[in-house]
Amino acid sequence: MKFNTKLVLGIESTAHTWSVGIMDFNGKVMSVVNDTFIPDKGGLHPYLVKEQHLNNFKRVIRQALRDANCKMCDIDLIAFSKSPGLGPILKIGAQVARMLGQLLNIPIIGVNHCIAHIEIGRLMCNIEDPLTLYVSGGNTIVSAYESNKYQIFGETLDISIGNMIDMFARDIGLSHPGGPKIEKLAHQSKRYVQLPYVVKGMDLSFSGLYTAAKKLIDSKTYEISDVAYSLQETAFAMLTEVTERALAHTEKDEVLLTGGVAANKRLQEMIAYISKEHNAKFEVVPLKYAGDNGIMIAWTGILRYISEGRPNLLNTMIDPKERMDTLTIPWRK
Ligand code: ATP
Ligand code: FE2
Repeated sequence: MKFNTKLVLGIESTAHTWSVGIMDFNGKVMSVVNDTFIPDKGGLHPYLVKEQHLNNFKRVIRQALRDANCKMCDIDLIAFSKSPGLGPILKIGAQVARMLGQLLNIPIIGVNHCIAHIEIGRLMCNIEDPLTLYVSGGNTIVSAYESNKYQIFGETLDISIGNMIDMFARDIGLSHPGGPKIEKLAHQSKRYVQLPYVVKGMDLSFSGLYTAAKKLIDSKTYEISDVAYSLQETAFAMLTEVTERALAHTEKDEVLLTGGVAANKRLQEMIAYISKEHNAKFEVVPLKYAGDNGIMIAWTGILRYISEGRPNLLNTMIDPKERMDTLTIPWRK
């Protein structure tokens, strides 16, 4: 089959999900296939995740090619997540990308995972210049484009919102991922129990909230659903406050909600409310593209490749701690 535009294969490999997405250079999705590590108990053990990704990467790539009705030799560019994330897991994506790039003699491009969450949101929701609330198992960031960078206006000082909810869920015996289960549980209550609300300047802290909620559970004097409800209300109100203040400061007229926690209806409701108050258009990234996926990497790879050209191989080294606000965004100039 001959394709009338170039194709990119995007590899997501920062944490629990190994995902491969194939897309054309116009932004048309051809396929996306995910393989997600789900722990039996406890959190993400990098060694176990790494083993799962190593055992499955070829099957996932093959399935993505089959779904896109193309062959490896039809691919013109490889994009992979080079940052931020767990080192041993990032390495697998980088090594597979480098091998494919060299075997096929095509360019490879490293992508910052957080920027990819925003870019795929802009594409899928058809919005131009949003203030973004990105909430997931690894990140809690309020960001907007300013001075040629995705600036961070607020972020967590300790654990992420998704991680905090997952830890609490585990404590009450719910399996990973805890987010959807806590959302369901919270629905059964309307009784608010006071919990620590910690916003410092524009930043957030969730560890005190987690410890206090755990104490309430351990005391066995509260209904679990009341604690789940109060935990959600408190954490989401903190996120909403910081998002609203960033919105007032940046005067953006679009708000984007993304990351795995964006699936939560109560959070959507709160962010929709403040967006309306500020006359801003509010969009939630569709679930398939809000969580980790290879298409967001593919699309951001295309954007950087088109504006910067073939990267130096040294620029494809992984960087587990790279912050999104250190990178320039030439395609938005
Ligand atoms: P990142 O690498 O960007 O930090 P991630 O590896 O955590 O992402 P995601 O799929 O973006 O992966 O997010 C997963 C998180 O989303 C988990 O913490 C999960 O509990 C949470 N989540 C999913 N659905 C809901 C929901 N309905 N309510 C709250 N949290 C949710
Ligand atoms: Fe992510």
